[in-house]
Amino acid sequence: MGVSAAGKSTVGHLLSKALDIPFYDGDDYHPQANKDKMASGQPLNDHDRQGWLESLNALANATLQKDGCILACSALKESYREILSHRLGHRTDWVLLHGDFDLLRDRMQVRNGHFMPQSLLQSQFDTLEKPVYGLYLDVKQSPESLVNAIVNYYRQTSFGLIGLGVMGSSLARNLARKGVRLSLFNRHVPGKEEKVAEKATQTFPELADAQAFDNLEAFVLSIQRPRKIFLMINAGKAVDAVLDDLVPFLDFGDVVMDGGNSHYADTLLRMDKMGKVGVRFLGVGVSGGEEGALHGPAIMPGGDAVGYQIVKPYLRAIAAKDKHGSPCTTYVGKGGSGHFVKMVHNGMEYAEMQLLAELYQCMRFAAKMSPEAIAQVFEQALQTEAESYLLEITTRILQHRTGDVLTLDDILDQAAHKGTGNWTTVAASQLGEPATVLTAALNARYVSANKDKRVQAAQMYDFATQNAVVTDVGSILQAYQSARWIVHHQGFSLIQKAAETYHWELDFRELARIWTNGCIIRSRMMEQLAEMVDGTSILLHPNVVAYLKANKEHLKAFVLQNTAAGWPIPCFSAALDFMNAFTQAESPANLIQAQRDLFGAHGYRRKSDHAAESHHTIWTTLNKT
Ligand code: 6PG
Repeated sequence: MGVSAAGKSTVGHLLSKALDIPFYDGDDYHPQANKDKMASGQPLNDHDRQGWLESLNALANATLQKDGCILACSALKESYREILSHRLGHRTDWVLLHGDFDLLRDRMQVRNGHFMPQSLLQSQFDTLEKPVYGLYLDVKQSPESLVNAIVNYYRQTSFGLIGLGVMGSSLARNLARKGVRLSLFNRHVPGKEEKVAEKATQTFPELADAQAFDNLEAFVLSIQRPRKIFLMINAGKAVDAVLDDLVPFLDFGDVVMDGGNSHYADTLLRMDKMGKVGVRFLGVGVSGGEEGALHGPAIMPGGDAVGYQIVKPYLRAIAAKDKHGSPCTTYVGKGGSGHFVKMVHNGMEYAEMQLLAELYQCMRFAAKMSPEAIAQVFEQALQTEAESYLLEITTRILQHRTGDVLTLDDILDQAAHKGTGNWTTVAASQLGEPATVLTAALNARYVSANKDKRVQAAQMYDFATQNAVVTDVGSILQAYQSARWIVHHQGFSLIQKAAETYHWELDFRELARIWTNGCIIRSRMMEQLAEMVDGTSILLHPNVVAYLKANKEHLKAFVLQNTAAGWPIPCFSAALDFMNAFTQAESPANLIQAQRDLFGAHGYRRKSDHAAESHHTIWTTLNKT
């Protein structure tokens, strides 16, 4: 890339010979109208360039079955480069040929037969938005030395990955499949973690060409600058330890991404710390488990915006694709926003999982349906608006047998967790945002973990659970969908509150879009949200209002019947309760205010107040204020 007369065609031809990869000159693909316009001395605008860039993108795409291609194109703006690399889903290396205006003007003067007049050179310089990534080469050098520099750059590792656990090695394989040259590092722990990176290159054919290291300095030095390094290690102190070890070897402008489930406040501190030594830091939420990491996760990067531009092509290449083929990744926002939204994703994940657990419990034990029958109902539900990844895996679980036994029946009923659901509840509480269903899901895990006490209490109380009356499967599924709308409302409202509090500029629709594929909470409901959320309450959206008005009775019936029969359904109950409270114009909170004023003289506002005034009543004297 580069302005006119930078030498793109000459270098492209030579490079094609050196690398044995076909070369295409963008100039050859301009429609005649564009050539005529330029020849008449008028610069092209975005509209003129659109179709041309799209045809070059299609050309590049078509070459990906083989070795790819070398493409010469001015690619002056970031938006043009986005069109050029749109849906390539593959490694793209950018080389900017740049030179002085005078030098290029002189070159244009001696060049014959080109449609581009010299008068347009200034407009090209004016339009050029230099990329924050890629290789910059000064065209003063000979074409041969430019080609050598590009060949060296091309052959160097472009991406480093630290931590070759399940998620790390799957992401590395995903990157390698997109043609990214990798350096891999895993720590050396005698007797426990030895030659882990090397073993990964031997185990996975895609990683055969990757360089393996257990020496951090050698690992860092093997990577193109600015370096792009993905940390795929356990969240917590280990991240700080690795960053401390890395910093002495890093250079100004290198980019480090933390792809673990780190706490967003830690991410913010790390960003500051790394920023002080000139390293660009990103907190990157990655969702989709092992399968997702390998075939395409949803990726939620937040933090250093320039750092994001540098790693963007790589993240876009490895991310899942939405139904329109766009990558399920976007720059979330500044600070710890990437890890914050991943945390809330997990909080919603807990609630979605718990709703399914409650549904399963009531269908199997209250309504006495067999696992096969439940699986059948779920399979049908997967063809409806209730479709989701979690419903799909639940169906698979209900069909899985080990020998004659349903595998599920042999699993101890104590739910584990790694912290993100807990942090979501804490964050909701700190920000003053009700996330009652998400919190109920977390608490349900805690209650389940108290297995010994539950067994003891079951004997001591001996409460009978009864068969619930509800067996109307259609009604149960509407209750389930209603509760899910409330889960999504609470999750998105929490993110919105954080965005207001921390001054993050988040695009909620884009967030829903990147959660339509790759991540654990992908679902048809998320597809609907991707076309409807706009930063206002989901429960106030006319479509949701219409749905919940029509279906609240199903949720109510499900909660009343199962609760009366003695079955714990904390998430369904919390959803119904929240809906009742959220839609109540007059609440009993006036009594809370009166109590606060009585015992602590905290003051209250009157319904008739127009502005925020504070009133106090001497409550000991009746009827006097
Ligand atoms: C994901 C998952 C992933 C992980 C959870 C499990 O989005 O891919 O959420 O991050 O499986 O951390 O969390 P718990 O162990 O807390 O259930």
